[in-house]
Amino acid sequence: MGSTPSCFVEVIVPVQPTLEDKFSFGLWTVGWQARDPFGDATRAPLDPVEAVHRLAGLGAWGITFHDDDLVPFGADAHTRDGLIARFRKALGETGLTVPMITTNLFTHPVFKDGGFTSNDRTVRRYALRKAIRNLDLAAELGAETFVLWGGREGSEYDAAKDVRAALDRYREGLDLLARYSTDQGYRIRFAIEPKPNEPRGDILLPTVGHALAFIGGLEHSALFGVNPEVGHEQMSNLNVTHGIAQALWHGKLFHIDLNGQHGPKFDQDLVFGHGDLLSAFSLVDLLEFGGPGGGPAYGGPRHFDYKPSRTEDYTGVWDSGAANMRMYLLLKERAAAFRADPRVQEALAASKVPELSVPTLAPGETLADLLADTTSFEDFDADAAGAPGYGFVRLHQLAIEHVLGAAG
Ligand code: GCO
Ligand code: MN
Ligand code: MN
Repeated sequence: MGSTPSCFVEVIVPVQPTLEDKFSFGLWTVGWQARDPFGDATRAPLDPVEAVHRLAGLGAWGITFHDDDLVPFGADAHTRDGLIARFRKALGETGLTVPMITTNLFTHPVFKDGGFTSNDRTVRRYALRKAIRNLDLAAELGAETFVLWGGREGSEYDAAKDVRAALDRYREGLDLLARYSTDQGYRIRFAIEPKPNEPRGDILLPTVGHALAFIGGLEHSALFGVNPEVGHEQMSNLNVTHGIAQALWHGKLFHIDLNGQHGPKFDQDLVFGHGDLLSAFSLVDLLEFGGPGGGPAYGGPRHFDYKPSRTEDYTGVWDSGAANMRMYLLLKERAAAFRADPRVQEALAASKVPELSVPTLAPGETLADLLADTTSFEDFDADAAGAPGYGFVRLHQLAIEHVLGAAG
C-alpha cells in the first residue's frame, strides 16, 4: 500500500551544461519580478551580482542585459560607475562573459511612441544618445553583439504613424549607430530582433523576413543581422525553424533568443521547449547539425530570453533557468540520435531530402542545354513522376519517436 508503482521509474538523463555550449541568459529574464498588466510583482528584486553567481553555478557561460537592468534609468554617473564596477567584479569572480548588450528604449514614458521612430524628433535624438552611451559600455565589456529590439517602434492606429517616414528614421538611427561604432573602431555587430506586436499594437519589422529586407537598405548592412526569438515568429503563426534557416542562408543569424510559445497569442516567454516541442527539436537539429557535413550551422550564443512564470518563487526561477539548458541539451542528444539512426538515413534518402542539394542543372550544363533536353519536358512523364509518394510521414514519425526516446 502506498508504494510507488513499478512502472513509475524516474529517469534522470545526465546532461550537464558546459562553457562550450555557450548558454547565456538576459538579466531581465531571471530578474523579472513578474509584474504584468493585471498584477503586481510576485518576486523581490534580484541583485545582478547574485544573478551572475547563480547563473554561473548552473553552468551558464554568459549574461546579457539592457542598460537599465544594471543601472536604474536616470542614475547619476557616480552610481552608474559603482554598479558597473561591482558587476564586473562578479564577472571576474565567476568567469561569466557578456556576449551581448541591448538598450531599453521602451520602459520610460518618454519612449511611449518609440525611440528611433518616435514622432517627436527630440525623443529620437535622446534615444540615439542613450543607445550610443550603451554602445560604449558594450565595447568596454567586450560584447560582440548589440541587440536592437524595437518594442515601442510601431503604432496602434494607422493614421498616427507614417510608416515610410518611420522606416526612414529607423534607417537613419541605425546608420548613425553603425557609423559611430566604426568611427570608434569597435568590432561590434548589430542584431535586429523582430516581433509582430506587444507592447505596440503593431511593431515595425515584425518578422525575420521584414528585418532581413530592411537590413539590405542600411549603409553598413554587413554589420547588421537578426536576433530571432522563437516565440515571436510563432506569435505570427510562422515556422521559426524556417525563419532561422533563411537567416542562416543570408549569413545573418548573429544571435538567437530561445524560449517557448504556444502559437499565436500573447508573448508567453516560456522555457525553451515548453511550448512547441517538435519545433524546438527541429530548431536544435538545425543549429547543431544543419551545417556542412552535419556540424553546427550556428556558432554564436545560445541565449535564453524567457520569463520564469509568475507563479514561481526563486526556487522556481533557478529551476526554470536550469530547465532551459537541460531542454536544449536533451534535444541536442535526441537530434544526434536521429541523425545517426540508419533507418532515418534510409528514410531521408527515400524522401529524396539529400537530392535537394544537387543543383537542378548538371555541371557545365547551360540553360540552352536544358531547353534542348527533351527528357526534361517533351518526353517527361509527369504522371509517372507524380505517382510515387515521398514518405515524409514515415520520416516525421521517426523524428517524433526519437524525441520521445522510443526509437531505441
Ligand atoms: C520581448 C523581447 C525582449 C528583447 C530584449 C532584448 O519580447 O520582451 O524579446 O525581451 O529580447 O529587450 O532587446
Ligand atoms: Mn519575447
Ligand atoms: Mn527577445
